[in-house]
Amino acid sequence: MPEFFINRQPVHAEPGQTVMQAALAAGHYIPYFCWHPNLSVAGNCRICIVEVEDSKGGTWMDIACNMPVDEGMRVLTDSEGVTKRRKEILQMILLNHPVDCGICDKAGECSLQDYHYEYNGERPVSFDPKVQATKFHPLSERIVLDNERCILCSRCVRFTNEVSGTHSLGIQHRGDHSLIRASEDGAFGSDPYSDNVIDICPVGALLSRNFLYKSRVWYLKATPSICPGCERGCNVDIWHRRSEWKLNALDPRQNASIDRVTPRENPAVNGPWICNKGRDLAAIFERPRAERAMLKGTPVELPLAIDAARALIASARRPVALVSSWASNEELAAFKSTLANRFACFVKSDWTPQPGERVEDDVLIKPDKNPNAKAARALFGAAPIAFPDGTDLVLVWGEGFSFTQLPRGASVIYLNSYLQPENGHADVFLPLSIQTERRGRYTNFEGTVSNFEPCFGKKATVADAEPLFAALATHEAIA
Ligand code: SF4
Ligand code: SF4
Ligand code: FES
Repeated sequence: MPEFFINRQPVHAEPGQTVMQAALAAGHYIPYFCWHPNLSVAGNCRICIVEVEDSKGGTWMDIACNMPVDEGMRVLTDSEGVTKRRKEILQMILLNHPVDCGICDKAGECSLQDYHYEYNGERPVSFDPKVQATKFHPLSERIVLDNERCILCSRCVRFTNEVSGTHSLGIQHRGDHSLIRASEDGAFGSDPYSDNVIDICPVGALLSRNFLYKSRVWYLKATPSICPGCERGCNVDIWHRRSEWKLNALDPRQNASIDRVTPRENPAVNGPWICNKGRDLAAIFERPRAERAMLKGTPVELPLAIDAARALIASARRPVALVSSWASNEELAAFKSTLANRFACFVKSDWTPQPGERVEDDVLIKPDKNPNAKAARALFGAAPIAFPDGTDLVLVWGEGFSFTQLPRGASVIYLNSYLQPENGHADVFLPLSIQTERRGRYTNFEGTVSNFEPCFGKKATVADAEPLFAALATHEAIA
């Protein structure tokens, strides 16, 4: 393991590490635009320049992201020479940049904004007019490009070459007329990982159409969660309005809506990436909700419906339960410990691949479109659903089961969160809270457990599954 010096302090490096990697690991910050820990080194922005002292008392400058650590090397990251060069680099980058932070979605998260304040802070050094380019170039149906803000770091190009594998972005032309463009075969539009370029763009050049001008990021809070879109269980942050800003929301629905979803880095699950389905969780979680308990389609108070379900369970002779593979580890364990011994239990797929959806690939996407199938099967087995002769009660937990498959004459208790035609056909319908309203854990296909936290409160007429199962198994009121 080589030992070298940063700002005269000894630092250990792993064999093969660059100065950038070793410095960041040891807590010495070096600024970077084009370098990304999960992409190849491009070395084009030069902001990571550092000074190296040689053994004869001289010094030389080079970029930290492409410089391997050498035993005994002496690196200065904030010398006078480095500070001066860094400032000149920023002034060059800003020659044609519009600095329109006031209307830029990246403001508050932008490396260029931060470095400008930290290392430059000067007015423009050129009196020539800035080169103008298109402000809203449609790269795909999901992403627009502001050419004027692009600093040509090439991260987005390398992402499609090295991670998603679509090779769908490139740089056209030369010098200050260079433009990021999508290939003409439409591959960027169908790249299921395309939105990752929005996150890795160090400036506000690549913008999500969904999030465009929706909110300033400092009004938002990121709650740790898990994408339920497949058994990968990618760790995500769900961004929603901070509660302290609720009084200022012109539309009260903004207080309980998902503004955007970004990856939460977890090397054991998804690294720093997610697929576009994970970005679109609002389309799953913000479907019309079922908020009232019902008896054969007639709305009733929740305790009355629980009493009715309890009576059906008590009188059934051959009850079957179809267990949700969207339930958390805690909910599955609660069902197992309270009600499972009354039922023949089968694990059900709540979701199957939708038309046009990529079913599987060798990046992240897995074929089972349920986040907790592995944990459900571990508790309730992997047998296909079968209704024994004489089945007289079916408890259906979650979506994805067609009532046309119910055994003739069986009563139905249905636990679901969304408005669906089946709700009104159940003998007892019990509305459940959803993932964004509670905390829990999922176990992904590799056995890695991740947790999710609540973003919003649930309505009082809606039940959480754990206390609901306890109430169904006993005569206690629901908590
Ligand atoms: S669009 Fe963003 S990520 Fe792509 S080259 Fe320009 S600055 Fe870099
Ligand atoms: S790979 Fe699966 S879990 Fe990850 S974001 Fe996509 S759908 Fe969600
Ligand atoms: S981060 Fe090193 S050259 Fe860009």
